[in-house]
Amino acid sequence: MSDFRKSKAWSALAAHAKKLAPQHIKDLFKEDPDRSDWGTITAAGLTLDISKNRVTRQTIDLLSALATEKELAAERERMSAGDQVNGTEARAALHMALRGEGAASAAITQSGEVKARFLDYARSINSDNSSQTHKHIDRIIHIGIGGSDLGPRLVQAALGTADQIQVHFVANIDPHELNEALDGADPAATIFIVVSKSFTTQETIENAKSAKAWLEANLPAARNANKQFVAVTENTKAAASFGIIPDRIFPFGGGVGGRFSVWSSVGLTLAITLGEDAFNHFLSGAAEMDRHFLDAPLERNLPVLLALVGVWNRNFLGIGSHAVLPYSQRLALLPSYLQQLEMESNGKSVRRNGHLADVETAPTIWGAAGTTGQHAFYQWLHQGADLASCDVILPLGGPDQYQHHQDILLANGIAQAEALAFGRNRQATEAALAEEGLSEAKIARLAPHRTFQGNRPVTVISMDRLEPKTLGALIALYEHKVFTQGILWDINSFDQWGVELGKNLAGGVLKAITGDGPVEGFDPSTRRLINAARQTRTKTTRED
Ligand code: F6P
Repeated sequence: MSDFRKSKAWSALAAHAKKLAPQHIKDLFKEDPDRSDWGTITAAGLTLDISKNRVTRQTIDLLSALATEKELAAERERMSAGDQVNGTEARAALHMALRGEGAASAAITQSGEVKARFLDYARSINSDNSSQTHKHIDRIIHIGIGGSDLGPRLVQAALGTADQIQVHFVANIDPHELNEALDGADPAATIFIVVSKSFTTQETIENAKSAKAWLEANLPAARNANKQFVAVTENTKAAASFGIIPDRIFPFGGGVGGRFSVWSSVGLTLAITLGEDAFNHFLSGAAEMDRHFLDAPLERNLPVLLALVGVWNRNFLGIGSHAVLPYSQRLALLPSYLQQLEMESNGKSVRRNGHLADVETAPTIWGAAGTTGQHAFYQWLHQGADLASCDVILPLGGPDQYQHHQDILLANGIAQAEALAFGRNRQATEAALAEEGLSEAKIARLAPHRTFQGNRPVTVISMDRLEPKTLGALIALYEHKVFTQGILWDINSFDQWGVELGKNLAGGVLKAITGDGPVEGFDPSTRRLINAARQTRTKTTRED
């Protein structure tokens, strides 16, 4: 057994799990009818209810002891102070500083200047649009991928309104996405915001080059296409060589990881479309969550509790699948956003000291908006052979019209959380079928199929309304959950070496497909695929 599993707190949790794992959530409610009192905590406009998990107060105490053993409080201070918590890249993690929180915020004054500049630019676009004399901008094409795309895309979908400048996001190298973004665009009224921390990401650079070629081909000869390009990057040199004019380059710093960057100039698109006030509210919601994360005791701390319950489900109940179920169409992209945040951060098997982590780390994260997901995969959630833990996210208030729709949406979210946790046993099922008027024979035949085991752990996160502040707090909640779990698993949440190998190999495969490199040397399966790709090529140069 490793030192990890042998530790006092880990062993105590393992012993506790032996007793608790076989228990049913509904029995935990019978034993402790007040559990939703201690299991419900509010901060920064969000209410977290962990009572529908297979945990007791003792579980939370034991998990808090694990957090103490792993020196979570000291590690949290280190991150907040701007220490190099990202060991393999020798970098800090300064996303809190971008919201003005943490001791490192003073160290990030440069980003304050950048913020003033990009907000200025956003203002200039909006004021040109309200003046009678300038050509209006009616479309933004935001080009970026991963952390340079998912955050702005999520927030735009969550908070954007129909009366704004149209925004299109282009992430995929698949030309369909760029074509759709350009379709119907007025070349003179479109700006391109190219977001890439490295400014070397193949998909982003190729999309930006093709967008520029389109603009040059379609603008009147006297117009300079470069004036309609903006870059958000750490690699300001590469952006300048691309042709972007210096005052349209908005850097974001080395200490801000892509998946933690929506608060920086990466959010420029949002500052334009939502406006400066909403953007600042979004940041202030996150800052409120930061203060809570830094100050609240571990056992009353929302991100810490979310992380602890996640570790319990993953490591002590053995659940490797986690569904994110927002009951809000506007949060339909949250599962994809959290996939990157959680899986790129904590999908690792090596500890910070380079030794193998012999405990399970990030589960698979997936999900979809309720109620549409109910008609797709909830069958599996309720009666599948594997268990998933679930986060049900409930913005309580909806739009001004169609209150009845909102009532139905919430009723479904609340009821699904209940059904997943409590289920319906054989006896209750038989009673329900009898009430439906079924014959005894039919009841006997159908009851096994219509029984629900329940005991699926569910965490509910609710808020009065989905608005800039609560969305900021929600994203920050998950960021701190990820950090906390990284500490508990002793992994570096801020690097992403796992994405490199495939990217590197793609270089050689591309050459083989285009005929610029050898096909020999690849394994037979890969060679067959390369040959198939070669045969379907319609054109031979990148320009066409
Ligand atoms: O997927 C790997 C990754 O490096 C992510 O971490 C990052 O968010 C994304 O690619 C985009 O990188 P960049 O912003 O440098 O273009």
